[in-house]
Amino acid sequence: HDHLIDTKQLSRQDIEDVLDRAAEIDADPAAFGDRHAGKLLGLLFYEPSTRTKMSFETSIKRLGGDIVDMGSVESSSVKKGESLADTTRVIEGYADALVLRHPSQGAAKMVSEFVDVPLLNAGDGAGHHPTQTLLDLYTIRENAGLDDLTIGIMGDLKYGRTVHSLAHALTNFDTRQHFISPGSLKLPRSVRYDLHEAGANVREHTDIEDVLPNLDVLYVTRIQRERFPDENEYRAVAGDYRIDLETLEGARDDLTIMHPLPRVDEIAPEVDETDHAKYFEQAHNGIPVRMALLDSMLEDQ
Ligand code: CP
Repeated sequence: HDHLIDTKQLSRQDIEDVLDRAAEIDADPAAFGDRHAGKLLGLLFYEPSTRTKMSFETSIKRLGGDIVDMGSVESSSVKKGESLADTTRVIEGYADALVLRHPSQGAAKMVSEFVDVPLLNAGDGAGHHPTQTLLDLYTIRENAGLDDLTIGIMGDLKYGRTVHSLAHALTNFDTRQHFISPGSLKLPRSVRYDLHEAGANVREHTDIEDVLPNLDVLYVTRIQRERFPDENEYRAVAGDYRIDLETLEGARDDLTIMHPLPRVDEIAPEVDETDHAKYFEQAHNGIPVRMALLDSMLEDQ
């Protein structure tokens, strides 16, 4: 088996295999209904989650399996001071695969070095969120295609783990990536370096208007208020990174707008009613994509 820790480990072929399997599942979910009867997925969520946790639970159940869930940090023995290493060593004895979300960057990588069952990183601090990327890529492939793609990625590029994972994965395809953010939330140097090494076609901007007319896809992320040391600094920039109908006057008719969610106010609700809005479809794609991943990772278990 393999672990899934970040998107740097995925080749174009790996990505296409998952997306193709997800498309098969989407076309005929019932055909996959009892493939993993009796299999148990261990959920270790040290940070809040709605979509990732519930879609992993839905996915394993739709494959005939079930979950064992640590529950919240508050209700588990983490509260008594048990280490991540000890907890995962115990839960791997209960489950056929593990899903980990943790506030520390590098947590999934650390755990992957000693667990014997497949481990899926469901978000490690400001690091990576590779299963989110696979559902993002599935959504992009369905709506705009993955080659000859011009994508804008906007918002908190510094701490946004969905952004870091997506940007790396897109280097496997013929893609122009435009990063739009306030100066204080630009891509971290390490991510920029990796993108450069991968030969990515990358530009950075502070104004969405400069690039919006060229985009096939706009991937919006939340400007994370809690990251700003000064509330005034947040207020000064936040409004410039909000998408509403007025902003979209400069966009192509076939622009696809995505967001990993949750959103706060960076996409006005009026945009939901337009043909641009694909973020709820994107969240729903978490099911076939996570079913495909689990199906492939549990195949050999
Ligand atoms: N997109 C995402 O990871 O959402 P949750 O934090 O709700 O899982």
